Amino acid sequence: MYGEEKNTELIYPKAEQAPSEMDDVLQTNIFNVMLSRRSQRKFEEKEVEDWKLEMIFAAADTAPTAGGFQGFEIFHIKNSEVKQKLADAANKQPYVNAPVVLVFCMNPLRVKMNFSQDIIRKFSTQDATLAAAYAQLAAHALGLSTVWIGMINEQDVMSALGTDLVPSSILCIGYPFKMLQPKPKRSLVELIHEI
Ligand SMILES: Cc1cc2nc3c(=O)[nH]c(=O)nc-3n(C[C@H](O)[C@H](O)[C@H](O)COP(=O)(O)O)c2cc1C
Repeated sequence: MYGEEKNTELIYPKAEQAPSEMDDVLQTNIFNVMLSRRSQRKFEEKEVEDWKLEMIFAAADTAPTAGGFQGFEIFHIKNSEVKQKLADAANKQPYVNAPVVLVFCMNPLRVKMNFSQDIIRKFSTQDATLAAAYAQLAAHALGLSTVWIGMINEQDVMSALGTDLVPSSILCIGYPFKMLQPKPKRSLVELIHEI
């Protein structure tokens, strides 16, 4: 496990299907990706390539999860009627109807740990949130833009998806009309509280 053996399964898509642009992506500096990300609410109609989607899913799958139990699920919404229902469930935010719509749901039943229901639920919320954050950064590294949707009516999202899993966020992804500059943030001195 710790020796010479290489796990080629870790890189998506498989080498033989990989387009040449993938080499550029694998050289991407994570700090540049983080520092240049900006939420986007206007997407081109252009379709997102399957290989990019696979890399986004693979990135979500690398996120840490409580106990390694992966207490979350991703719903990839392709159906335009369901997308519209999700936009309605998100306080009628129209840009939820994006080229790629992913709903991250908690799945506490996967978290097989001997803790209270409260803690298990908290774990699965964090699992789903982290996975979405990883997917968001991966999408940006691939030249796409995203917006995180947290303003959702959980029950309406669940009925749109036909699931009893509670959603934590929706991630909308697509090619931006225009790549925006990142928003200024507060200074690190204000952010960090040394005790
Ligand atoms: C928990 C959370 C909930 C959010 N919910 C929404 C939302 O419902 N609609 C929306 O347009 N943006 C939403 N956003 C995106 C934020 O508005 C955006 O991240 C913030 O304005 C900072 O801009 P930036 O992402 O470009 O740095 C949400 C972001 C987070 C982290």
